[in-house]
Amino acid sequence: MNNFTIDNPTVVHFGRGVLTDLGSTVAKIGHRVLLVYGKGSIRRNGIYDMVMQQMQQEGLEVMEYSGIRPNPVVGDVDMAAEAGRRFRPDVILAVGGGSVLDSAKIIAITIPVKHTGWLFMSGKAKPVSAVPLVTVLTLAATGSEMNRFAVLQNHKTMEKVGYGHHLMYPRHSFLDPSLTFSVSREYTAYGISDLTAHVLESFFGEGDASLSDRFVYAVIREAMEYGPALLNDLQSYPLREKIMYAATCALNGLTFYGRASGDWGVHAIGHVISLLYDTPHGATLSIAYPAWLKRLSLRIPDRIATLGQNLFGVTTTEQTIEELERFFRRIQCPVRLPDAGIGEEKKAEVLGQMLKNETDGMNHKLTEEDIRAIVDHMFTG
Ligand code: NZQ
Ligand code: ZN
Repeated sequence: MNNFTIDNPTVVHFGRGVLTDLGSTVAKIGHRVLLVYGKGSIRRNGIYDMVMQQMQQEGLEVMEYSGIRPNPVVGDVDMAAEAGRRFRPDVILAVGGGSVLDSAKIIAITIPVKHTGWLFMSGKAKPVSAVPLVTVLTLAATGSEMNRFAVLQNHKTMEKVGYGHHLMYPRHSFLDPSLTFSVSREYTAYGISDLTAHVLESFFGEGDASLSDRFVYAVIREAMEYGPALLNDLQSYPLREKIMYAATCALNGLTFYGRASGDWGVHAIGHVISLLYDTPHGATLSIAYPAWLKRLSLRIPDRIATLGQNLFGVTTTEQTIEELERFFRRIQCPVRLPDAGIGEEKKAEVLGQMLKNETDGMNHKLTEEDIRAIVDHMFTG
């Protein structure tokens, strides 16, 4: 195993009704609250009213910034940071899915400085301070609620990239599975594909960590056992609860400790697809993972077969990939680009952007030949 430090400061409040502690928790941090949310689902499903009632109960002063879109963009973050500089919040309260939480993390480190949030994303600036962040998660998928990462798009540079810093951990995250009842069937499925992909990125990362491998299998088993059941019963609290906890554990460090890195090559591929066609994140991963595995089976057949043995009781790489694909199909996620409405006429565009962005993994380096083969697999299998 590689040496590691566990230093995750996020306090997670998990379970039905936990929002009753939201107001008092925020009030302990400060009085002026910048509330960040998305395109309005929280206004339709009643979560906005629950949150505002908590703020009013404590007499907190709230300024709102809404309109964060899925596959969030740096322009919105910069506008929110500008509004935040005028308001001078004591705390940022992010209410939404990964897109809202990620945007809020970069808003939190951009308010104290005068430059665009992209300087952080591109690694050209390091944050020195952050407005404290509290989150209310409304969609189980990314793990952003208990990690230090954020992913943003920039259409000027044509990049979608991730960035992480210790200052970006939420102070508190409130996870009430009943707040995810209103998540659509599609986004529920994309969340399951995303959490599965997160632990696979760890599994194919650098370094040997047997307990982390076992956490990987455990998270995927939860997804395989309860994911399809949830899609047939979207209002089930016990199933929403299992998937929400699995999504948090998929990217809070548990499956990574003892490794030098995850791989993240499949995420890098998925980010190019989202950037070009605004495809939901989880949908890009159910397409890219089988394609990546097909190519990598030439290089790491034993590792892929080990995954298959432990998850599906099969012995070959081909069977492992087939089983994983079958699982993605079972939860009605796309497994080829045309399934997501991206036809063969886009092949040159996809390939060109992947080569231009030097799409790569951290552990398994991708050559131009690899990228060409993976693109072919994503279109035709
Ligand atoms: O815009 P709103 O109104 O919030 O609606 C959203 C959006 O349309 C809706 N939604 C959220 N909660 C809902 C709901 N609809 C009904 N009821 C609810 N309770 O769902 C749609 C998708 O939301 P979004 O936040 O985009 O989804 P997700 O949580 O999957 O986040 C995806 C983003 O996170 C990034 C992805 O790249 C993508 O940009 N990731 C972040 C990571 C991290 N911070 O660690 C890691 C991941 O690998 C991922 O890259
Ligand atoms: Zn992801």
